[in-house]
Amino acid sequence: MVIDVKTQRPYEVTVENGAMGKVGEIAVRLKKPGTKAMLISETHVMPLYGERVLASLEAAGFQTASFVFPAGEEHKQMETVMGMYMALAEAGFTRTDLIVTLGGGVTGDMGGFAAATFLRGIDFMQIPTSLVAQADASVGGKTGVDLPFGKNLIGAFHQPIAVVSDPEALSTLPRRYFNDGLGEVIKHGCIADPVLFEDLERGGALKDMEGMVAKSVAIKRDFVQADARDTGRRMILNFGHTCGHALEKLHGFKGLSHGEAVGIGMVMACRAGEKLGVTKPGTGLRIAGLLEQYGLPTSDAFSVEEIVQATALDKKSDGETLRLILIRDIGESVIYPIGRKELLAALA
Ligand SMILES: NC(=O)c1ccc[n+]([C@@H]2O[C@H](COP(=O)([O-])OP(=O)(O)OC[C@H]3O[C@@H](n4cnc5c(N)ncnc54)[C@H](O)[C@@H]3O)[C@@H](O)[C@H]2O)c1
Ligand SMILES: [Zn+2]
Repeated sequence: MVIDVKTQRPYEVTVENGAMGKVGEIAVRLKKPGTKAMLISETHVMPLYGERVLASLEAAGFQTASFVFPAGEEHKQMETVMGMYMALAEAGFTRTDLIVTLGGGVTGDMGGFAAATFLRGIDFMQIPTSLVAQADASVGGKTGVDLPFGKNLIGAFHQPIAVVSDPEALSTLPRRYFNDGLGEVIKHGCIADPVLFEDLERGGALKDMEGMVAKSVAIKRDFVQADARDTGRRMILNFGHTCGHALEKLHGFKGLSHGEAVGIGMVMACRAGEKLGVTKPGTGLRIAGLLEQYGLPTSDAFSVEEIVQATALDKKSDGETLRLILIRDIGESVIYPIGRKELLAALA
């Protein structure tokens, strides 16, 4: 399946079992053979898929080099990016050459950031290998790294020239990270696609991973296209994230994963929405049922007061008013400005 993303610089997302072997073929349609290609990957993914991707690029006539960094969010920092710049410079990369990122969201965000900034921007292609990266991070053009003060505090918008997703690669992804991605896929169903949601309820979505990833990509694409720089409609993608981010913060970004936190956040948003008369009664329970089915948590030991208090530093908040994302029913979302006190009352 090929999904067109029509941002300022349009590109295609290919979602196909076995697509990893076609990277060279896809790249050569966009770049000349003989172009240099730097494969950026990390220590878990490179040994699994690196050779296949390099072979595909070489067969298509690219001159390849590679840069491998230690896997893990703790390495999503400027020091690692500096290593990428050095490798690119040493290998004589120029503005017309190519970066190819192979890995999860950490690799895509950081390799994309190197591409956005090296020589003021060179082309990059993404090969996402985790569910988070395939279903969410590889669409939208957000790249970046963390600071000790918080996640993704440095970054740039930089669209890839192509994304090649191979759902077969998910077979080696540890369960925990798979579930993390499922949280966002369920979110995409909640905000825009009742059929995807029902597929997940019936357990059918996991039997057709290609279809699930493709649907998820198309949903994110629709929001991103409408609002590439994230100032309006794209905010809907933050469903479950107001309370979700607060929970991650309360847990010190350890223990509870992002996807798990978003799941709990969606249930909380529905509880508030139902109380406010916006959300169809029973929706929160329905989402909780789906999360449980996939082994994701639906509630947390922190109190509602603590959670609402912790939303104070939310990027999407403006003073005392939060732009909470609610759904009317599965597949129908709205932006709902609400005071923190009002939210607390609705959740109590
Ligand atoms: N740019 C965006 O819009 C966006 C959106 C969501 C998340 N993100 C970012 O993505 C990151 C989280 O993504 P993630 O969960 O993919 O993190 P990750 O890249 O750390 O991958 C998770 C783990 O899975 C391993 N892995 C990845 N693919 C594998 C495979 N096919 N087989 C075996 N192991 C594999 C990795 O080595 C790592 O240990 C965060 O840094 C987050 O900020 C960005
Ligand atoms: Zn998220």
